[in-house]
Amino acid sequence: MEKSHTTMARQALLFICILSVGSVLGQVSYTIPEEMTKGSLVGNIAQDLGLKIKRLTSGKAQIYTRDNDQYIELNRERGVLLVKERIDRESLCRQTTPCALHFQIILENPMEFYSVTVQITDINDNAPTFKKSEKKFKISESTHIGARLVLERAVDLDVGINSVQGYELKPTDNFALKMHSNADGDKNFEMVLQKPLDREKQELISLVLTVVDGGEPQMSGTMQILVTVLDANDNAPVFTQQTYKATVTENSPAGTVVTTVTASDADQGSNSKITYSITNAADDESKVFEINSENGEVVLTGKIDFEESRNYQIYLLASDEGGLTDSCKLIVDVQDVNDNKPEINIMSKSTVISEDAKLNTIVTMINTEDKDSGENGKVQCLVNDNVPFSLRASSNNFYNLLTDSDLDRERASQYNITITCSDEGLPSLTSSVTITLQISDVNDNAPVFERTSYEAYIVENNTPGLSIFTVKATDADWNQNARVSYILEDSSINGVPVSSYVSVSADSGVIHAVRSFDYEQIKDFQFRVKAQDGGSPPLSSNVTVKIIIQDQNDNPPQVLYPVQTGGSLVAEMVPRSADVGYLVTKVVAVDVDSGQNAWLSYKLQKATDRVLFEVGLQNGEIRTIRQITDKDAVKQRLTVIVEDNGEPPRSATVIVNVAVADSFPEVLSEFTDFTHDKEYNDNLTFYLVLALAVVSFLFITCLVVIISVKVYRWRQSRILYHSSLPVIPYYPPRYSDTLGTGTLPHVYNYEVCRTTDSRKSDCKFGRAGSQNVLILDPSSTGTMQRIQSEKSILDEPDSPLEVSP
Ligand SMILES: *[C@@H]1O[C@H](CO)[C@@H](O)[C@H](O)[C@H]1NC(C)=O
Ligand SMILES: *[C@@H]1O[C@H](CO)[C@@H](O)[C@H](O)[C@H]1NC(C)=O
Repeated sequence: MEKSHTTMARQALLFICILSVGSVLGQVSYTIPEEMTKGSLVGNIAQDLGLKIKRLTSGKAQIYTRDNDQYIELNRERGVLLVKERIDRESLCRQTTPCALHFQIILENPMEFYSVTVQITDINDNAPTFKKSEKKFKISESTHIGARLVLERAVDLDVGINSVQGYELKPTDNFALKMHSNADGDKNFEMVLQKPLDREKQELISLVLTVVDGGEPQMSGTMQILVTVLDANDNAPVFTQQTYKATVTENSPAGTVVTTVTASDADQGSNSKITYSITNAADDESKVFEINSENGEVVLTGKIDFEESRNYQIYLLASDEGGLTDSCKLIVDVQDVNDNKPEINIMSKSTVISEDAKLNTIVTMINTEDKDSGENGKVQCLVNDNVPFSLRASSNNFYNLLTDSDLDRERASQYNITITCSDEGLPSLTSSVTITLQISDVNDNAPVFERTSYEAYIVENNTPGLSIFTVKATDADWNQNARVSYILEDSSINGVPVSSYVSVSADSGVIHAVRSFDYEQIKDFQFRVKAQDGGSPPLSSNVTVKIIIQDQNDNPPQVLYPVQTGGSLVAEMVPRSADVGYLVTKVVAVDVDSGQNAWLSYKLQKATDRVLFEVGLQNGEIRTIRQITDKDAVKQRLTVIVEDNGEPPRSATVIVNVAVADSFPEVLSEFTDFTHDKEYNDNLTFYLVLALAVVSFLFITCLVVIISVKVYRWRQSRILYHSSLPVIPYYPPRYSDTLGTGTLPHVYNYEVCRTTDSRKSDCKFGRAGSQNVLILDPSSTGTMQRIQSEKSILDEPDSPLEVSP
């Protein structure tokens, strides 16, 4: 300081010198820095002006200035100028340079004046400053690079080197300082955006602008710059996931929240206000789903059906108010619920099946379908188990209904087959279908007669055309196959075709007699009736019908003995000495009827003496019932009535002449007496002799035949014996049918029927005591021949017939 002071003083001197030389009025100049302390020496004015101190004093030297302010004072005693007051260059001159104080020193006696200039030099006493310590900006983050923010410059009251020298901005990330020259040469001080702003990264940028001057020491000032980055809608909303997945069970009610999607937006305020929407073009999804535009809740609004759509792809859009958007996809998987029954489709079916259908005949083909999936869609089918049908799966979901056992229309003509299908869901759903199947008839059943054989009775002497009875056969088949017709099978009875005996009505099975039957000719016969149905081919069965002809009392008893001739000369001899109970004779009668109708009883109808004889009611024996006396007439005439037991009874009468005498002549005389007609008696005798001759002849003939047959058979058996052939057993002829069915037409069979008890109509071989013999010849045309033999005795069945007259 001192040094500069001296240099300045020297300068002032030099200047005075020039002035001194130049004019009267002296002029001196000093240079002092500002801010010198009060009383500091400015310059030795006396010396510099070349004045004596005395002069100054005497001259009452004083400073004259137009300004009121007196910064400099004059010390007359010392002749120096001193700083009177603090000199602030900045307030004195502001920015004007150079800054100088001009005043005059006036002297009196003589009046003189001297101009003094004190130049004030600047010292760096002022720091550069900004007007405001803080500057705030608000700029949008979307501001382009190069944008300028005008800054105020700092002010430094100092001048020259001491004034503002430079600025510095920190941090320099986004902004740089720049001087920008305007067209008019002014310079703008600006902050230029160098790097894009991002509010989302840094919302408030705090910068410090420092200004420095060039003084020594250097001084600086700072200003804080706060840049608020305003939000621009530079961020689109962003979904938290690109793809959302959600599951919803079908049939969920409207209002079910499927899921919530969220998008975020880094922006602020309205730029971050997100609105959600569904953007699917197809309106399926937008009908079914709705999104809450505010909170992103996806809600079901429609019906959701797994069977229609198994998943939905929903495109969602999130948009902020600035119009920026993001999209995402929401995949909604629909979960199946067992809400569909299995469907049964009958692909083809027969309504009728023949009862002879083979095993495994396909009746119906069905197809099942369940719209559900997985277990819910797996279908099992069953058929009710009381039918002869079964289900067989042919391929996936196809089933055949087949017969699994034999059908029989006669057992069941119709089946209701119920097919039940159920799925495997929980709970399982079931549906069923019923098929009615008719079983058609096949002629597989022959007609069946109600009985295995028939026996019918018809009373002989019927009227031809009489219906005897009805055979009936039923056929289990149906309709034509069950229409039975009856046919009489050809056969012959005794060589006569059966059709001449009976006829069968084809429709009704009524059997009619074609002729009138005679029990005495034929007692029964058999034939077969065939029942045939109308099927193709027809089936038939046959049955044996036995017609038994019942006897009618159509034959009166026939008296075989005594033989009735025109004029009877036959008389039984009874000795007068005969005891009571003496067997006079026996009335022998037969009745070709049978049973009751042939059960004969004998009664005495008329008699010469009713108390002498009696007739055995059953055996026809005439016996004496009292001792014969001499008074009794020789000729006794008895009328015996033989009556059968038929209804009505039929009878025959026979007259028996009895001669009660001890000698033949007595008898003769008596009989000639009572023989009314001699001629008649001759005839009678003749017939009697003839009859005896015939009987004898027949007997001999029979004897010869029997012997020859015996001999023949004996020889035959010898041959058989020697040839060691099986021995054909020989049956005695008596085993043959006495009634002569015609099977052995040329064999003579001898049968003896004893009529001692006519209630026993069957024939027996005679025993001793029998008096009458009946010989029946089967080889004859069926009529019976009577052969009378008196008191014949058959000792042995096989022995030849012996007749003792
Ligand atoms: C089958 O069903 C029908 C009608 O439901 C019924 O009339 C008929 O009797 C049934 N048949 C059998 C064999 O159950
Ligand atoms: C009658 O039926 C029997 C079986 O019952 C059979 O053997 C016979 O051949 C049938 N006769 C005729 C002529 O059809």
